[in-house]
Parts: sequence; structure tokens; C-alpha cells
Amino acid sequence: MHELIEAAVKARDNAYAPYSKFKVGAAVIGVDGKIFSGCNIENASYGLTNCAERTAIFKAVSEGITEIKAIAIIADTVNPTAPCGACRQVIAEFGIDEIILCNIKGEHKIVSLDELLPFSFKKNDLNGDDII
Ligand code: THU
Repeated sequence: MHELIEAAVKARDNAYAPYSKFKVGAAVIGVDGKIFSGCNIENASYGLTNCAERTAIFKAVSEGITEIKAIAIIADTVNPTAPCGACRQVIAEFGIDEIILCNIKGEHKIVSLDELLPFSFKKNDLNGDDII
């Protein structure tokens, strides 16, 4: 766990956040133990911003790693940093069940996917009878 948080801390240094100035780092670990990290990447067209969590997850997936054990997220927040709604949905897509919320004060809290996003919409929901 320490290694994953360290990777998120390091990635946070690369945050590209000239607009919000809010730097976020994240790191994921695959079932094979490989770590991928990411930072938030903002854009002058604000809505195109990519959060740190999604950067890290997309890096893993684009390298062929879809079985992800855990994710760590860190920012300078009063309480350990919780992912935004869009990132929760992406975390749910890959069934990441250990979500380590951290802040730069050194606090952390571990939550499950169900705590983070109850009643989530997942791939099995696309197989329902209502699909025409
Ligand atoms: N941000 C993240 O990277 N992750 C989150 O879960 C919440 C928000 C980023 C997006 C934007 O660059 C900045 O934080 C302020 O919202």
C-alpha cells in the first residue's frame, strides 16, 4: 500500500493544473503487481480536463492491464481525497475494490467500491431484457 501511495505522490508533482492549481495524483496496482500512476491534466477548454484517477486507470488499461486490485488518490484536501463521480464510474468499470483516499497531511482511508458508488451501473446491466 505504501508503494502505491508513494507512486501517487510522485505523479502529483506532474499535475498539469494551470487553471485550478489543484494538483491530484493517483496510482493503480494490477493483480500482477505492476503500478501505473497518473495526474490531472487540465485544458483551456475546461471540460476536457482529465482527472488523475482516470489518467492512471487508462494508462494501465492501454498497457493491457484490466485486472486492477487497488487505487490510491492524493491531493491537498482537508479530508482524504475522494474521487469525482466520473472517476467513480470508471473505477466501477474495472471493479477496483480497494480505494485508498489520501491527503498530503499523511491521512488515509480505505473504502470499497460499493461504499464509493452504491447501485452502480456495470457491464452486466447492458444484458437486461429491456434492450431492443
Ligand atoms: N480532479 C481530479 O484529478 N480527480 C478528482 O477526483 C477530482 C478532481 C482534478 C480535476 C481538476 O483538474 C482539478 O482536480 C479541480 O477540479
